[in-house]
Amino acid sequence: MQTVLITGANRSIGLETAKQLSEKGLFVYLGSRNLSKGEEVVKELHEKGFQNIKAIEIDVTNPESIFKAKKIIENEQGKLDILINNAGILGINPQTASETSVKDIQEVFNTNFFGAISVTQVFLDLLKKSDSPRISNITSGLGSLTLHSDPNWKYYHVKGAAYGTSKSSLNAYTIVLAYELRELPFKVNVIDPGYTATDFNHHSGPGSVESAASFIIKHTLTDENAPTGQFFSNDIEDESGISPW
Ligand SMILES: NC(=O)c1ccc[n+]([C@@H]2O[C@H](COP(=O)([O-])OP(=O)(O)OC[C@H]3O[C@@H](n4cnc5c(N)ncnc54)[C@H](OP(=O)(O)O)[C@@H]3O)[C@@H](O)[C@H]2O)c1
Repeated sequence: MQTVLITGANRSIGLETAKQLSEKGLFVYLGSRNLSKGEEVVKELHEKGFQNIKAIEIDVTNPESIFKAKKIIENEQGKLDILINNAGILGINPQTASETSVKDIQEVFNTNFFGAISVTQVFLDLLKKSDSPRISNITSGLGSLTLHSDPNWKYYHVKGAAYGTSKSSLNAYTIVLAYELRELPFKVNVIDPGYTATDFNHHSGPGSVESAASFIIKHTLTDENAPTGQFFSNDIEDESGISPW
C-alpha cells in the first residue's frame, strides 16, 4: 500500500486531497499542526467510512514536530511514497513591495518556503526507500514570474511581496531538488491547485476543493514517464496543465 503525507491537511484543499487519496486506497497521514484538530477530522472521516487515514502532528515551522512525525512514519511504515507540501499561509494584506516589513515577509516564507524545505529534507531518506517517490510542492499561479510580467494575465494586478515571492522561491527550490534527484525514480513538481474557494481567500475563489484536489492527485500519482521539475496549474486551460515559470 502506498503511503502519503500531506501537510496542512486538517481543512480545505489538503483535507479534500486526503479524502480522495484515501478513496483511491492509499494510506494517508493527515498532517495537522494541531493534533487534536487533525484527530477530530479523522474521527469524522472514519465515521463516514473513509479508511486508512491517520492524523499526525506536524507544524512545518517547528523542526521538533517534523522530526517527531518522521519517527512515527518510519516506525509504522518504514518508508514514505508521497510527500505533498501543502501547508501554506497568505500573510498580511495588502503586501506592497515598498512597505511590507521584512518580519511579515519572513513569516510567510517560514511556512511556504522554509517549511516545505525542512519537511522535504527530513523525509528524503524515507522517500528514497520508495520504488516511486513523489514530492508535490503546492504552489500558486501567483508564483509565476512569467505571468506576473504579462499585463494581459487575469491576475496581473494580484501582486504580493510576501505570498507571491514565497511561491516563486518554492518553484525555484523545486527545480533544484528535481535536478538533484533526476537519476532516481523521483518525480518532484510544483502544482498550483487554481484559485479555489477556501478559508484562505474567504471563499472568494471560483474553483472547488474537489477540482483542486483531483488536479493535485492527477499530477502526483504519475508513472515513471511523467515529467519531473515541472510546474502544473489548474488555472491553465491547456490539457497539459503546464504553466510558464
Ligand atoms: N485557495 C487557493 O485559491 C489557493 C490557490 C493557489 C495555491 N493555494 C495553496 O494551496 C495550499 C492550501 O491552501 P488552502 O486554500 O487549502 O489554505 P487554507 O484553507 O488556509 O488551509 C491551510 C492549511 O495549512 C495549514 N497550515 C498553516 N500553517 C501551517 C504550519 N506552520 N504547519 C502546518 N500546517 C500549517 C493550516 O492549518 P490550521 O488549520 O492549523 O491553520 C490549514 O490546514 C496552500 O499552500 C496555498 O498557498 C491555494
